[in-house]
Amino acid sequence: MMEKINSLSAYFKEYENSIEDPENFWSEIAKTFQWQKTWDNTFSWNFNGPDVKWFENAKLNITENIFERNLHTHSEKTAIIWEPNDPNEKSIHISYKELFEKTCQFSNALEANGIKKGDRIIIYMPMIPEAAIAMLASARIGAVHSVVFAGFSSSALADRINDCQAKMVLTSDGNYRGAKNIEVKAVVDEALEKTNTVGKVIVCKRTGSKVQMKTGRDLWWHDVIKNQSLQHKAASLDSEDLLFILYTSGSTGKPKGVVHTTAGYMVYAQYSFLNVFQYEHDDIYWCTADIGWITGHSYIIYGPLLTGATTIMFEGVPTYPHPGRFWEIVDKYKVNQFYTAPTAIRALQAKGLEPILPYKLDSLKVIGSVGEPINEEAWHWYHDNIGKGNCPLVDTWWQTETGGIMISPLAGITPNKPAHASLPLPGVQPVILDAEGNELKGNNVEGNLCIKFPWPSMIRTTYGDHKRCKDTYFSTYPGTYFTGDGVKRDHDGYLRILGRVDDVMNVSGHRLGTAEVENAINEHSGVIESAVVGYPHEIKGQGIYAYVICSINDQAESDLIKEIIATVSKIIGPIAKPDKVQIVSGLPKTRSGKIMRRILRKVASKDFSNLGDTSTLLNPDVVEEIIEGANI
Ligand code: WTA
Repeated sequence: MMEKINSLSAYFKEYENSIEDPENFWSEIAKTFQWQKTWDNTFSWNFNGPDVKWFENAKLNITENIFERNLHTHSEKTAIIWEPNDPNEKSIHISYKELFEKTCQFSNALEANGIKKGDRIIIYMPMIPEAAIAMLASARIGAVHSVVFAGFSSSALADRINDCQAKMVLTSDGNYRGAKNIEVKAVVDEALEKTNTVGKVIVCKRTGSKVQMKTGRDLWWHDVIKNQSLQHKAASLDSEDLLFILYTSGSTGKPKGVVHTTAGYMVYAQYSFLNVFQYEHDDIYWCTADIGWITGHSYIIYGPLLTGATTIMFEGVPTYPHPGRFWEIVDKYKVNQFYTAPTAIRALQAKGLEPILPYKLDSLKVIGSVGEPINEEAWHWYHDNIGKGNCPLVDTWWQTETGGIMISPLAGITPNKPAHASLPLPGVQPVILDAEGNELKGNNVEGNLCIKFPWPSMIRTTYGDHKRCKDTYFSTYPGTYFTGDGVKRDHDGYLRILGRVDDVMNVSGHRLGTAEVENAINEHSGVIESAVVGYPHEIKGQGIYAYVICSINDQAESDLIKEIIATVSKIIGPIAKPDKVQIVSGLPKTRSGKIMRRILRKVASKDFSNLGDTSTLLNPDVVEEIIEGANI
């Protein structure tokens, strides 16, 4: 059994051990897992490759560590509580034993349909138990899952299928999201017109919507599991075999496939879950993320299930059918740990206190935040009104690439400081670098957040393009992993994340590259060029502001703007829709033709001070025009 850190002094001691003797530190933790063969070497690394390996040459299966390792102690315990979108529909409780059987059954079904170790499977599904079963079955047979958030468009889905050459897509007949029923199967059909690697599609019945089933390609979930055994022998995987690929946005080009491998990810997912949330045996834990994001992978599925926790999967949205839905669910299941995003907190905060009043919320022991910087106002609102002033708030900083929580208070152990992610977890060695790459030591410093030493769940590569991984993360400051975030270490040595320092926006906790949105806008036939920046948004954290140059046409500007927004929704998905579009005659450019985003960001943020010397621009007049026409 993995031991929890239980005091601040134990944390400091464990942190010190992890730095002084990382081999011993991580191998002691790894020993609490079930291995088919143990490792020869705890880890080896070289950030110039990058070439990072953990628990070298060991053999294992992550699902044996969820099931076989733990079943003797909690086979009847509830693994997943599923809460449907509609509160009047019945919820589902799945025990560990049942989840194991369903995972085995679906593993057999995948194999019967030709999926082999190493094959890539796309999961484009709503938040239903089958989505969890799909991930686990993929892991059990050694396939590689790539979950795509079911709000992405067909073209975004097609890009991901093509990038990883997926053999199969798992989806549903429909997806309930609040009052909407989204026809996800039709999105898959459209995506598959642009791909040629997918042989089979398995469709889970959820909404009963009528769907087109293509003969020879499309199969119903309930048919493929029929007659499949409830037993399955787990595949034997190497520590560094791929567990999953998850696509995420960067500052350039299309989203890239972040690759996570089996053993290191597993060890870190459980270690971080247990310690950050201080999970205790009978606790009910709820993370409100979607499994389409890394938070759903590590802290709805893998971390909690490896720990033998009861994890809630919620199909719906925070405000449906009423703005008290989250709190209703907390009371209904007596949730002990609640983990959500600042954007949800701010949206609910905007509804006032009334929606909270009917609920006790007295089961809560720990509340958490993830995905973007939490502003102090939201922090206090959350702490006072949801945590009732007596729940530790864990502000957890991490990324798709880090696989698990890197900087965070440990609940009830690390003293809370509003809006501070605080201190690194044991094994995590952050450094703050200035623009030239010099380390800023000591307190009261601010700079770029990098990690100088490997940790088990770190990104191994970007799928199919190792150079891109190196260029994106390991070249800006050679010898370290560059996070893309700015950070401040305050007078107490506590870390405060300041947000992205690159061209990545964080919109309602979703990562989007400015280039990605620009490319989508440029798909509109009337668009000549565009520039996208983020600006502060009360609820979303950041909103998307697009400056667009259009070819002359006789359309009303408002129609054109509507069309541009619809184009982005079609190319990426509704989450990437610009909040504001300004049609401009030109964009401020340097003499070498580079767009001066700094100016555009300032205008979008209503900050007209210090626009800098614009006289050296290729087209200084355009700045005046942009300011005058600003949509702010
Ligand atoms: C931001 C989500 C401040 C950050 C797990 C990071 C945060 C990006 C926090 C990764 C936090 C995440 N405080 N900023 N507690 N957590 N971020 O890959 O900018 O979707 O680089 O992973 O979210 O987003 P991703």
